[in-house]
Amino acid sequence: MNKVFGSWWKKDNNSATELQGSENIPRHVAIIMDGNGRWARKLGLPRIVGHRNGMKAVKRATTAADEIGISILTLYAFSTENWKRPKEEVDFLMSLPQEFLALELEELIQKNVQVRMMGHTDRLPGHTIAAMEEAIERTKNNTGLILNFALNYGSHREITESVKQIAREVQAGKLDPEAITQELIGSRLLSGDLPDPDLLIRTGGELRLSNFMLWQTAYSELWFTEQYWPEFGREQLFAAVAEYQKRTRRYGGLS
Ligand code: IPE
Ligand code: IPE
Ligand code: MG
Repeated sequence: MNKVFGSWWKKDNNSATELQGSENIPRHVAIIMDGNGRWARKLGLPRIVGHRNGMKAVKRATTAADEIGISILTLYAFSTENWKRPKEEVDFLMSLPQEFLALELEELIQKNVQVRMMGHTDRLPGHTIAAMEEAIERTKNNTGLILNFALNYGSHREITESVKQIAREVQAGKLDPEAITQELIGSRLLSGDLPDPDLLIRTGGELRLSNFMLWQTAYSELWFTEQYWPEFGREQLFAAVAEYQKRTRRYGGLS
């Protein structure tokens, strides 16, 4: 593992980027995996080919995250708004977890990766849930990288549902409104006990959050790239982490 640190570099806009040793590696990295469709269009291919190649980028990102000791990798795979897309595309996207896990689950188990899912299960097809549940169950005792798939995830909905639940408990006399703290709200979100993302990456050139972890990213460091998700790999992840290592996090205080 040590070989990676310091010895790794890349030319990015003609300046060398290098991982600054194994210090200050983000604990939780969250990625908005965007640009599959545009990547495919650029090559004159159907959008679904972009999604399938995006799956290969998921593997590369996971391997690279594991290599440098990132603890949690959260991947935005499908938003609560993505149901607006044509049915064929949605169906294809819903078949990808199965396809990915059929190819990768054994290796993930070997690598001690713990698979998790963060999302609303109601609209997901049975076969998608079944594939995720199998992976979650078979990796639940693993202690390595947490690979957290945000599937049918949307921050507005997660916050709305947690507020509703809290209101019910207050109404039932089980919760004192004075006991509603920032920590309590955070723990009631779909991310549950996971620490907030330290680094948020978005590929595909759009500069927005698209309803992703709005509460949890209050103090995340942001890193954007024009490159499309199917082009993402070790090099891009390391470039983002190298940039993160140079940032000063003040959380509103002074450095
Ligand atoms: C990201 O790529 C994958 C999902 C949102 C599921 P897109 O499908 O959004 O690709 P673009 O943004 O249209 O290029
Ligand atoms: C964000 O990408 C959602 C995922 C990557 C799953 P979108 O392509 O859905 O976002 P917008 O529509 O450009 O904001
Ligand atoms: Mg998109």
